[in-house]
Amino acid sequence: MTPERLLATIRPFPRLTLNHKPTPLHPLPRLTAQLGGPQIWLKRDDELGPGGGGNKGRPLEFLLGEAVAQQKRRVVTFGGLQSNHARMTAAACAGLGLPAHLFFFEKRPSALQGNLLLDQLFGAKLHFIPFGGGGDATMTLETTIRLVRLVSWLLAGPGAYFMPVGGHTAVGCLGYVEAAVEIQQQIHQLGLDSEKVIIVLPVGTGVTLAGLWAGFWLLGSPIRVLGIDVGKLWRTFPASIARLATEVCGLLGQPHTFAPADVPMIEKTYAGVGYAKLRSEAVAAIQLLAQVEGVVLDPVYSGKAFAGLLDLVGNGRFPGDTHLIFLHTGGLPGLWPYAAPITRDA
Ligand SMILES: Cc1ncc(COP(=O)(O)O)c(C=O)c1O
Repeated sequence: MTPERLLATIRPFPRLTLNHKPTPLHPLPRLTAQLGGPQIWLKRDDELGPGGGGNKGRPLEFLLGEAVAQQKRRVVTFGGLQSNHARMTAAACAGLGLPAHLFFFEKRPSALQGNLLLDQLFGAKLHFIPFGGGGDATMTLETTIRLVRLVSWLLAGPGAYFMPVGGHTAVGCLGYVEAAVEIQQQIHQLGLDSEKVIIVLPVGTGVTLAGLWAGFWLLGSPIRVLGIDVGKLWRTFPASIARLATEVCGLLGQPHTFAPADVPMIEKTYAGVGYAKLRSEAVAAIQLLAQVEGVVLDPVYSGKAFAGLLDLVGNGRFPGDTHLIFLHTGGLPGLWPYAAPITRDA
């Protein structure tokens, strides 16, 4: 499909404008020279809006567009304590005058830090429930979403717009299908050989990966994506990502079935002990990028994924003429709650 036709297929879906796009795509010359392998690039989705930025700005345009089109009066979502998705939902809802209910399946921390501090600042209603909620790989993503939908219905009442963790729906993925067009255009403008481009990104719920994967497939583009699982969060996770990418193509009237075995993701290897558990390799990766390029990553998502990229480059996984684009997905507020362990490791 041509980029114009793909964009025209997405256009009828309700949406809001929450972001300044395109986000920059720029090289990292000092890091590339230091690593001595493929050319490393950064795609700055950390600069998306609202409320402090991050990758969830793209799915939220479509998800909240749907909420507004359906005349919903409240929005419900859930995530980990340092969920950037929850924080950006809270910010966007504040701007729309829509109450946001955020569910966290953990004990209320004694101090609200990082994303939680911002959630509160944006006026969201925070619900802390210290049990269930999934995310420990005992349940599938789909079962978790069904359970939380029920719990939130009981506690926040019926009639809300329910957004699964991370915005994990086909509509949410549209933001990254569109981003595939944006990246393809940038690669073309920069004169890079698409066959040699690989986009590396963190994976939490798989919305970003499924959207890009489906997007490049719909474009018939040779640009490859490689997700790095940062959390070991869900049982049979590749099946969930394949299902989501399949659903997006169906939603856009271009049926295609993606197989779980083909999901371009390295699962578990770089997640360390688990989701939101600090990994020393991630701390080293955060320090390296900060000191060599002046760019800050976060410890939960982008730092872990970037540590994976560094390990893969070090192991000679990519030919020297590869263009590796790291998708910086944001998450900066998540740095502050980890200040003590990060500075201790420095
Ligand atoms: C900063 C950051 N990076 C990456 C991700 C993972 O994105 P996805 O849930 O689409 O896999 C998230 C998820 O919330 C995030 O907040």
